[in-house]
Amino acid sequence: MTEYIIETRDLVKVYGDGAQVRALDGVDIQIASGEFVAVMGPSGSGKSTLLNMLGALDRPTEGQVLVNGQDLSTVRDLDTFRARTVGFVFQLHNLIPTLTARENIEVPMMGHARRGQRRQRSRELLELVGLQDRMNHLPNQLSGGQRQRVAIARSLANEPALVLADEPTGNLDSHSGAEVIALMQHLNHEFGTTFITVTHDLAVARQTDRVLVMQDGRIVHVHDVGSPYEEDLKAFRDSGVGQALLSGEDASLTCLEPEEREMLRRVLIGVE
Ligand SMILES: Nc1ncnc2c1ncn2[C@@H]1O[C@H](COP(=O)(O)OP(=O)(O)OP(=O)(O)O)[C@@H](O)[C@H]1O
Ligand SMILES: [Mg+2]
Repeated sequence: MTEYIIETRDLVKVYGDGAQVRALDGVDIQIASGEFVAVMGPSGSGKSTLLNMLGALDRPTEGQVLVNGQDLSTVRDLDTFRARTVGFVFQLHNLIPTLTARENIEVPMMGHARRGQRRQRSRELLELVGLQDRMNHLPNQLSGGQRQRVAIARSLANEPALVLADEPTGNLDSHSGAEVIALMQHLNHEFGTTFITVTHDLAVARQTDRVLVMQDGRIVHVHDVGSPYEEDLKAFRDSGVGQALLSGEDASLTCLEPEEREMLRRVLIGVE
């Protein structure tokens, strides 16, 4: 056994045959069971690719992904592995439009649980996410935040140890987004479920234990939210990127979108 629920070793993912894209370029991460981790970084930096590798939705070109110490390349039945171990939440909730909230939550259980069991579990999960009174609503009869809560309930259907979320608040207003994150935090504390969530939102990232910052397929910064936040912020301010942002000489930071530069500048300006 290992203490990590997730470990990657020199993970590389190259897409395409001709014009190749090195979407992951040597990623080594270790995530302890029960952690709540955010993954940030500019568009195209490899965040979704990393999540897909961790959840065995796609295979790496090189390197290893270990889940609970087991190398995924040695797992024969990846479908069963995914169903038992990992829950997924996406930016667009991916609920089936013609099924009710309750039925959507039951879909991942349909291969192995009888109707009575499924009914009970889906009711519990709807209560957990505060939607017991929306049980028979179709997705289009729910608000965006409610749909995302259904998607989270669905991701938990088989009691996974790990939930991977790709911008789960990306399509929500800040209030609904905060509710979804609060729910994930509650589940993380209550059940010890490990959450890894991609986000562009600093307010979301601040709610997590640790932030992995990606750029060009690599982890370029690990921000430990558990340590005093100000210290990390100061370290970032004093880094090359932070100094370039503050001095306005940030033309070299081509990886950052203009609005990201603005956002980061605002964050850094407030640091003592
Ligand atoms: N199926 C694919 N085929 C070819 N290239 C791909 C494929 N998926 C992703 N890429 C490329 O790999 C790189 C990383 O993509 P990825 O989707 O992981 O980025 P991301 O960090 O999730 O970005 P975003 O914030 O926009 O979602 C990008 O350059 C992208 O164009
Ligand atoms: Mg993405």
